[in-house]
Order: sequence, then C-alpha cells, then structure tokens
Amino acid sequence: MKSLFLIQNLAIKYAKFSLNKSLKSQLNLDLLPNYQTKTPDPNINYMLYVHVPFCHTFCPYCSFHKYAYDESLAKEYFKNLRLEMEQIYKLGYKFNSMYVGGGTTLINESELIKTLELAKKLFNIDEISCESDPNHIEIQNLNRFKGLIKRLSIGVQSFNDEILKKVGRYDKFGSSQTLITKLKNAINVLPITSIDLIFNFPNQTKDMLINDINLAKSIDADQITFYPLMKSSLTKDKIASALGLSKNDNEYEFYTIIEESFKDYYKSNAWSYAKKKLALNDEYVSSKHEYLGIGSGGFSFLNGELFINAFNLNEYNSKIQNHQSSIIANCKFNKKERIKYLFLTEIFSGFIDISKFNQTNNTDLLKMLNIELKLLKLIKAIKIQNNIIQSTQFGRYLWLSLMKEFYTGMDRVRAIFKDDSKIKNSSKINIMKTQI
Ligand SMILES: C[S@@+](CC[C@H](N)C(=O)[O-])C[C@H]1O[C@@H](n2cnc3c(N)ncnc32)[C@H](O)[C@@H]1O
Ligand code: SF4
Repeated sequence: MKSLFLIQNLAIKYAKFSLNKSLKSQLNLDLLPNYQTKTPDPNINYMLYVHVPFCHTFCPYCSFHKYAYDESLAKEYFKNLRLEMEQIYKLGYKFNSMYVGGGTTLINESELIKTLELAKKLFNIDEISCESDPNHIEIQNLNRFKGLIKRLSIGVQSFNDEILKKVGRYDKFGSSQTLITKLKNAINVLPITSIDLIFNFPNQTKDMLINDINLAKSIDADQITFYPLMKSSLTKDKIASALGLSKNDNEYEFYTIIEESFKDYYKSNAWSYAKKKLALNDEYVSSKHEYLGIGSGGFSFLNGELFINAFNLNEYNSKIQNHQSSIIANCKFNKKERIKYLFLTEIFSGFIDISKFNQTNNTDLLKMLNIELKLLKLIKAIKIQNNIIQSTQFGRYLWLSLMKEFYTGMDRVRAIFKDDSKIKNSSKINIMKTQI
C-alpha cells in the first residue's frame, strides 16, 4: 500500500486538527514563581526523568533544550541535579526506573557517574536509560557505566555522508564508515544498545533510506528507532538552510518501506524496532504515565498535570541552591483530554488492555472515548477484540503522525520558555496562541 486512501488521509488531517485543538485549549499554562512540588501518591510507580542540557555544538534539526558545553557550568549543574534528587527523595518519591535525556547526557562522564550512583543509592533504581552521541561510546568509556546504565541509545541520524555533512555531524562524529566501526564496538558492552536514526530529511531519496536501513541492521543493535523528521517553529528555518526544502513529502512512503524492512523485528512502538521483545521501553512518554522531571527544562506529568521546570540555567541553579522547587509553570488537563493523551501514549506501543487501562486511570475508556473509538474503528486504525484495543498497520502511521504533532506542540513550550522575555511579568500563557 504505497499511497494512503483518501478517507485515511482525511482522517489523519482531522486527527491532527483535533489534537491541535486540544493543545490549544489545554496548554494554558500558569506561571508558578513559588511552587512547591507535591508529595507523591504512595501507590504510584513513578519514573524519574533527568535532563542534561549541554552539547558541544548544535545540530540544525534539534530543538531539545541545551546550552553550549562549559566544564565548570556543567559541574555546577550536575551538583545541583544531585541536590534536587535529594530534595525529591525527602518529599518521599520512589522510582525504579530513570531516563536521562539531553542534550548529550554522557558529556561529562565523571559527573554523570556520581549522579547515577546517587540515584541508585537514594531510590534503589534498577533501570537506567541514557542517550549519547557517537563521541562517548568507546569501550573504555562505556566500561565505566557497567552496572549503572542498562540501556544506551546512540544518536546516528543517518549513515549518509552528505546528510551528515549538511547537518554538521560528519566532522564532529565521523563519516558513515567511522560511525559503523564505533557502533559495532559499542554493541554488547552495556545490556541494551539502541541506535536512533531520522527519516524523511529534505532531498533524502528512497535509495538513501534503504541504505540507512541496511546499515542500521548490519550493526546488530538491540533496537533501532527511525524518527520521522520533526520540524517546528524552532527548527524549520535551520533545517531548510542546512538541507534545503523538499519537493515532496515522502513520510508515508518512507515509513511503509521502514515497516516492511523491519517485518522480522519486534515492534516496540510505532517508530522503534527491537531484535527481541525488550523489558525496557525507551519512549518514557509512552511507557510511563507518571513521571517526575528534574533539571533545567525538564517536564513532569503528575496526576493529570503537566509541570515545567526553569529553563534558564541561572534561575534553575539559584532555585535549587535556595531549596526551592525547580518547577515554574503547570497546566491541568481536563479528564477527557487526559484520557485522550493517555490513550495515544499507550496505543503508540501497539495495544491497550482495556481493563488494565481503566483500572490504572480510574476511567471507563469505551464510554469516555466512545465516538473517537468508533471513528478509529471505522477508518481501520484499531480493532477491538477480547477487551484489547489493537492497532492496525494504518493505525501505526496515525499514532506516529499524532506523536510527531504532540512533540511539535512541546517544541512551542520550549520556544516560549527559552525566551525569558516571553514569560517575564506574565502569570498565564497560552502556548498555542503565543507569538514565537
Ligand atoms: C535528545 S537527542 C540526543 C542525541 C545525542 N545528543 C546525539 O546527538 O546523538 C535524541 C534523539 O532525538 C532525535 N531527534 C532530535 N531532533 C529530532 C527531529 N527534529 N526530528 C526527529 N528526531 C529528532 C535524534 O534521533 C536524536 O538522536
Ligand atoms: S542531536 Fe544531540 S548533539 Fe545535536 S543538538 Fe541535539 S542533543 Fe545536541
């Protein structure tokens, strides 16, 4: 199926429109200058998200919150991360899994080690996932993290030298050949190694994509993720000037090729493929409903509320030093929007066990999303059988499109909070209506 049926095309447009409408009505943020992080619910299994906002240089497509690396700045930051961990420990939080995202999380190994060790000591954390660029994956570097990091995801983006040059990664991380050698050596040092690629770059051809798929498979990583290129107001101009503009949007066709090529893999979610079923899921947004984010620019999702930490590094450092919460804003989702969000994040991984969903989220999913589920069945995005909602092949592309839309919405949050002048002297912000 190379082209989408008209009705499914319309359904995707409608679903995106409806998601944007929800974001417009729900992303009404209150600024909270003196907020105190709430105490945890003892019955909930939270996930800890830790943000490391440093990179040596910036890639044009990337909108994640980051600063240029400076050793003393980073040391102070990691020290504050550890202080923040102690603060939330005192509030009573318990976690058994942790996701360290960036930026470049392994940018200062000694500081990261101290931070991971403290997390393990305070919270008895068993599963730690980290992201890395290809410059921190030599065997001797990774050996230092044995017993600490369970899952490492390494950013590759593409094995095409021209693309790597255009996005400024060829000189920084090496040619395709260098990357392949580095990656092959890095596999099997830590329990799970995953590699991240991006597809649908402007002017990427089908042959270039197939070559990326074949090379990615030849590395023999435990998991391969192919993200669709996400363009937001923060990155679209930078992407256009680095890579040009595309004549056609090949996203659906390319996704079909990827899906076909990974038929023999286990589908961890709509954009990740594993050699075998993994005990760890890398999409913390989709696998863990309740998470607490620490660090500058971290997000939390707790009891139906989204919380945003201070983006400005000085503000973050000063808040932690003064024993204050790093949270500076929040928004509350109404019950229906919250269920829609939870539905999307779960179905993204392939299926939903209705009874389990209802029990965890104290809801009646079939009643709450009655019309939405009927429409999804009608357009053949889901099947419901034996109390299980199963995603179809078309459904997988729909969730990917919606997840992309959701992340693009989150980029608007980043764009606004990155710019102090946008939030200064305000008490409320509507993310989708604010000029950026
Ligand atoms: C936070 S980044 C950290 C990666 C690491 N610093 C590196 O450069 O290798 C995690 C992953 O997000 C993905 N990513 C970043 N920007 C993206 C975009 N605009 N569209 C799709 N994927 C993106 C990339 O695959 C990247 O490896
Ligand atoms: S892709 Fe990685 S190295 Fe590039 S800017 Fe984003 S976080 Fe930094």
